[in-house]
Amino acid sequence: MTALGAEHADFSFVHFTDTHLMVGERAKGSRVMSQLDTAKALEQVIRAINILEPQPAFAVLGGDLVSPDLLDQNKVWTADDYEPSYRLLKQVLVPLTCPAYMLMGNHDHRDAFHRVMQTDASLPEAAHYYSFDHQGHHFIALDSLVPGEHSGCIEIAQLDWLQADLAQHAEQPTVVFVHHHLWPIGVRWMDVQGLKNADELEAVLRSHSQVRWMICGHVHQDQHVERDGLTQLTTSATCFQISKVSQTPKLFPGPPSFRLVHVKGTSLSTRVIHLHYDKPDDF
Ligand SMILES: [Fe+2]
Repeated sequence: MTALGAEHADFSFVHFTDTHLMVGERAKGSRVMSQLDTAKALEQVIRAINILEPQPAFAVLGGDLVSPDLLDQNKVWTADDYEPSYRLLKQVLVPLTCPAYMLMGNHDHRDAFHRVMQTDASLPEAAHYYSFDHQGHHFIALDSLVPGEHSGCIEIAQLDWLQADLAQHAEQPTVVFVHHHLWPIGVRWMDVQGLKNADELEAVLRSHSQVRWMICGHVHQDQHVERDGLTQLTTSATCFQISKVSQTPKLFPGPPSFRLVHVKGTSLSTRVIHLHYDKPDDF
């Protein structure tokens, strides 16, 4: 289909995020993973995606792919320490029947990711951003990871690349994926860990009218914020969810969730699907 073919598009895709796979030694007293097995939760999400009708054209993994650092927050986790978690992710993704595109989140480790996923990164710490097309629509994956920080940032070189990429695809309806949220969702302790240069990113996106949606992860809850024709969606996690009510950190084990997006011509529609963790094969 040509770049002008978006009006004939008819497909779906899924966004699932904050998979948080962890392999490593857990520090004494750490409660992480004691209430929910993140790999099992992801397996359940993948089984549900695989039986969707029609089948999604592709999946986007929204970052925090792995997080062994959560097992012991006093330890410095090296690329070697991170590798087993990415290998587990690779293994859990094998049954997924559609292609998968991955983003970096604040818990990720670029060097270990590039090594295990065998990307064509030019440098061990190279940021992982790129774009792709499907049926006349354009999709952009950004990298907001700042090593050692919970909040995110899109560095200048990436903003320049984004500006050029959007200019080259001006005729195509565009969806942008980024791990960190740009606009507050109303949960203060999460909102202070958003994208530090959200204004700069928003200015670039607004200078290209084909940009429709930004789809984010990070906040472990589904939200929808619309501002002057631009929409920010966040997707709940495949594992732990964060309270939408409490203004202090409060996490719940599950339900495993993912977002389904339908594209029909130039129209987009979406919903978040929450699974029943205690009934892992009952969809
Ligand atoms: Fe996360």
